[in-house]
Formats: sequence, structure tokens, C-alpha cells
Amino acid sequence: MSETQLSGWKKFPEGFMWGAATASYQVEGGITNTDWAKAAEEGKVPYAGKACDHYNRFESDFDIAQSLGHTAHRFSVEWSRIEPEAGKFNEEAITHYRAVLNALHARGIKPYITLWHFTLPVWFAEAGGFEQEQSPEIFARYCAYVVSKLGDLCTDFSTMNEPNVYGSNGWLRGSWPPFKRFVLTDLVSITNSGRTFESKAQKGFAPLFLYLRVMKNLARAHNRAYDEIKSVSQKTDVSVVKHVILFHANGNPMNKLKARVANYFWTYRFMNRIHKKCDSIGLNYYFHKKFGDRGTYQKTDMDWDIYPEGIEDALMMLAKYHKPLFVSESGLADEKDAYRANYIVRQVQATWRAIERGADVRGHMYWSLLDNYEWALGFEKRFGLVEINYETLARTVRPSAHVYKKICEENAVE
Ligand code: BGC
Repeated sequence: MSETQLSGWKKFPEGFMWGAATASYQVEGGITNTDWAKAAEEGKVPYAGKACDHYNRFESDFDIAQSLGHTAHRFSVEWSRIEPEAGKFNEEAITHYRAVLNALHARGIKPYITLWHFTLPVWFAEAGGFEQEQSPEIFARYCAYVVSKLGDLCTDFSTMNEPNVYGSNGWLRGSWPPFKRFVLTDLVSITNSGRTFESKAQKGFAPLFLYLRVMKNLARAHNRAYDEIKSVSQKTDVSVVKHVILFHANGNPMNKLKARVANYFWTYRFMNRIHKKCDSIGLNYYFHKKFGDRGTYQKTDMDWDIYPEGIEDALMMLAKYHKPLFVSESGLADEKDAYRANYIVRQVQATWRAIERGADVRGHMYWSLLDNYEWALGFEKRFGLVEINYETLARTVRPSAHVYKKICEENAVE
């Protein structure tokens, strides 16, 4: 497209990174040594099985990403493959992820690695996971090991994905391992996230205290990992990937107060504990809750409001920490691909507005490159730019992926 045809388009800063994200357990297949695989054996969550077989098909999947104009790709390395037993590291897994990184570089795609995306090695989970006092040290040892082995091929590492989602689903809602549920969760649940699962959890008051302990340990784990990674490689950019729910309100002062309190507990409390040990921050944005709002919204297949504009204020919330930001995930489940293209355009426009307002946003990664295992909901929800046929494992690029491609290639949005 010529410059004149593009006139009026909103340009992004030069060097802005465009791409999509995945996570190991959700796409790789063949991961058996984790708390999630064990929970599947116990009938508590669906099996991930071979998933998208991305472990064996990453080259052709990256061909697709490249053909879609992506210049960045966020993925996670699987802790249980790399450290299958406490303190014993597996060179084969490292060789695999080095091949993954080389495949991205060969296609001109910049890698962003997440060191831990929800699944725990069985040995670590059985010893108490992040409830353990020594969990930060164990986690930091793993992180530093990975950076020592992959840091020459990747400059950007996030320690962990969405600590608040992990903690609340595991210890307040009890819908994810280790399935502990705070008895009053229904009373305090103020999100409209639609993440309601049939609970397999043991209910009680103790999960609340365990949740608080886990959140504290996760913050300690990030901070400790930051220091350990820096002692291995000064030049590595270390971030956290933070899930932000945008709590906002109508004009009513009580509702405004509710939104402030909710934003504090969901976002600022954790960020205040770790922001000094972040070189950059990743934002995962999926939903909002507007107190006192009578508006109706179209819904995604997750039953989440279609409100991509909220990413603007979510970015502004993280911009308060004065660090470079990147959109590490944002997207929707939309099997028919009916809303995705429009959603992406609006989300990218809102990202551009945040940059105009001063947020130092450096990249945008759509969730997800491929359809994938949506945790306790199995394979039914379709987030991918690329559709997966789980029988044949055939890949089909969805029409909306081409709308995003144009944005990526032009570094601009209409
Ligand atoms: C997670 C992904 C998940 C996505 C959609 C994020 O909370 O990082 O693993 O698939 O949201 O629910």
C-alpha cells in the first residue's frame, strides 16, 4: 500500500514489535511431568495430550507466523522438561529450545521467552509448590539456569505469567491445581470474567491464608529470579507478565471507590512489590468490570465482554511504573472468527492511544498464534489466528489473521 493510501493511518514508533504468543503446555503436546497432567489423570481437568503438536511442528508454525508479517513471538519454556527432577537439568530440553530460538531468528522473528506459564514440575508441586518458604530460591535457580543456556539467543525473558490469575484460580476459586477454594469466594468475586468452572476443590478458610502466602512467595520468587538472572547475564531484559483487569466505574463515588480498591488488590499490590526488579513489563489484557455500568456488550465465546478499548487504560495503569511495556497477550475466543478482526483493530487503536498518552509501549502480541488448550476448559475455546483441527492437526489461517498482518506490515492501524 502506498503512503497516500495509508494517510490517516496511526503510525507506531519505529522498531515496534508485532506478533503473537503461545505457552508450552497449551500447544506443545507430550508434557506429562506436571501438576496439570497429574490433575488430568485424576479427572479434575481435561487432558492436554498432544495438543497442537507444536513441539514437533514449530518450524512450520513459525513459517505461518512469518507469512503473517510477525516480527516477534512470545512463548514459554516448559519447566518440567528442563528440570524434570529437583536440581537435575535436562540438556535435551535445552537443545530443543535452542532449535526453537534458531528457527525464530532464521525467520526474522524476535523471541520473548516466559520462564514459567502456570504448569509446575510434579516434584515441585508435590513439595508444596509456591506455598513453600524456599520456593523463591528454587524458582530463581531454574530461571538463572535457563538464561545461562539460552541467553545468547534471546534477550527478553519474563519470569512468570499472570501471578494473580495463578493464585486466585488455585487458592480462591479452586478451579486449577492445587484446587483449594476459599469458602467465601462467591461473595467476594467481583469480576465478570466468566471463568466459572465446576469446582473440584476442597473448600475452607485456610485457602485464603495460603493464597496470601503464595502471592507473597511469587513476588519474592520474581525478585530473587531477577537478581539471579542478572548475575548470569547483565544484558538480559527481565520482565513480569501481568494480567490487568480494568476496574472502572460510572460517576458514582461509591463505585469509583470500589474500582480503586479492586485495582489495588488485583494489579497494584503485586506490582508494588516487584516493579523495582523489572526492566520492562508485559500486559495481558482480556476484560474489564465497570461498576454501576448498565451497558450491554457483545460477548466472546468465553462470555467475556467485547471491550478491547480497555487496553488503553490498562496500559496507562502499568505506565505508572515508568518502564517499557509490551502487550504480551490480548485476544478473544471466537470460533467463527466473526468478531476477531474488528476486535484486533480496536485493540491496536487503543494501544496507539496509550502511546500517544505517554505509555512507552514497545510491542504487541496477540493471544494466540494457534488455537490451544484453554486450561480447565480443554480445547473447545478458539483463540487462534490459526485454526487447529485436533483430529488431523491441520492448520488453517483465519481471515482475521490477514487483517492483523496488514497492521504488522504497515506498523500502523487505520
Ligand atoms: C493466559 C493464557 C490463556 C488466556 C485466555 C491468559 O490468562 O495467560 O494461558 O489461555 O489468558 O484465557
